[in-house]
Amino acid sequence: MKLAKRVSTLSPSTTLEITAKAKDLKDAGHDVIGLGAGEPDFNTPAHILEAAKDAMEKGFTKYTPSGGLPALKKEIINKLQHDQRITYLPSEIIVCIGAKHALYTLFQVILDKGDEVIIPTPYWVSYPEQVKLAEGVPVYVEGKEENQFKITVEQLKQSITPKTKALVINSPSNPTGMIYTKEELLELGKVCLENDILIVSDEIYEKLLYDGNKHFSIAELSPELKEQTIIINGVSKSHSMTGWRIGYAAGNQMIISAMTNLASHSTSNPTSISQYATIAAYQGPQDEVEMMRKAFESRLNIIFEKLNKIPGFHCLKPQGAFYLFPKAIDAAKMAGFNDVDSFVKALLEEEKVALVPGSGFGANDYVRLSYATSLDLLEKAVERIANYMAKVAIK
Ligand SMILES: Cc1ncc(COP(=O)(O)O)c(C=O)c1O
Repeated sequence: MKLAKRVSTLSPSTTLEITAKAKDLKDAGHDVIGLGAGEPDFNTPAHILEAAKDAMEKGFTKYTPSGGLPALKKEIINKLQHDQRITYLPSEIIVCIGAKHALYTLFQVILDKGDEVIIPTPYWVSYPEQVKLAEGVPVYVEGKEENQFKITVEQLKQSITPKTKALVINSPSNPTGMIYTKEELLELGKVCLENDILIVSDEIYEKLLYDGNKHFSIAELSPELKEQTIIINGVSKSHSMTGWRIGYAAGNQMIISAMTNLASHSTSNPTSISQYATIAAYQGPQDEVEMMRKAFESRLNIIFEKLNKIPGFHCLKPQGAFYLFPKAIDAAKMAGFNDVDSFVKALLEEEKVALVPGSGFGANDYVRLSYATSLDLLEKAVERIANYMAKVAIK
C-alpha cells in the first residue's frame, strides 16, 4: 500500500522524537537528563484538577459545541479583554485541541495549493509541516542572531510575492525566547495591512517573560490589525496543562466559522472535561502562573551564565519562554563533528544529555535546551556538557 503524497515528506516532530529517544534510554536503565521537552515540569494547579473531577461527577462528559463551550469562550473573551484590551465576540473564538490544533485547522482553512506563508527562522518545528499539509509553501526568512533572531521589516518586504497569504509571528519565540517590541510589531503590521497578509500571532508563551520584558499582541495595536490577525494561544504553557489539550484561536469571524465547520467534521469538540478545567484555570487565582514564571526566571539566570562559559557555546539571553538557544557549531567542531546534529547525538549517547538540534528549527548551527526541569538536573546536565567539552579538548 502506498501512502498519500501529502505525508510522504512529513518528518516527525524533532522535539517529540528526541524526547522519545531519551525515554527509551531511561527505560533501559540509563541516567538520562532530558532537556528536550517543551512543557513545564510543574503539576497542573490543584483547583484546576478539582474542577475536572467536579465536571466528571456532574456528568459533563458529553459532546460540546464544536467551537467550544460558551462558558469557556466567555472566559477566553474576558482574558483577551483583560490582558490584551481587545474585545472579541463568541463568534470570533474557537476552542481547539491545543494551540497546535488551532494552527493546523487555521492553515487548512486559509491556504490553497501554492499559497505562501512567511515563516521567520528559527521557527517552531510544526509550522512548516502544517503549512505543507495544507498544500501551502513555507517561505523562510532568516531572523539573524545580530537582530535577536527577529526579522526586519525590509526582510519582510523582500519576501512578499503575489502568492503571500500569511505571516507567522511567534513572540515570545520557541526556540529563541526573543520578543518583538511594540514598534517592531507596528512596522511589520503596517506592511501586512498594505499587502493584505493575514498575521498568525502565536502567543502561547505570553505569560513567560523575564527581566521585566513586556509582551504585546500585534492584534492589540489597532482595530485594523485586530481584523488582520488571528491570535493563537492556550493554557498548555501558562497553566502547565500540556496534556489537557486546550488552545484557541481568536480573530476574523469568517475564518473562525470555517475552522469550526472543519472541526465539526474532524474532531467534533475538544474534551469536555478539559474545557471545564480550563474555565477554572481562567476564573481561579493566577498566582501559580506567576510562581512558575518566577521559578523559570531564577533557573534561567543560573543556567545561562554556566552554559555561556562552556567553550564553543554562545548564547543570547532569552527574554521569555523556557528555552536557551546557543550557537553550538564551534563546540561541535571542537568535538570533531561537522554538524550540530552529530554532536547532539554524541552528547546523548556518551553523556546521556538530551538536547534538540537546531536543524529542526531551521537553524543548523544551534541547539535548544529546555530549562523546564529542576535546577538540580539542569546544573547536572550543564556539568556533563562541560565535562564532555573538557574531555574532547584533551584528545
Ligand atoms: C510556539 C508553539 N506554538 C504552539 C505550541 C503548541 O501548544 P499546545 O500544546 O497547546 O498544542 C507549542 C508547543 O510546544 C509551541 O512551542
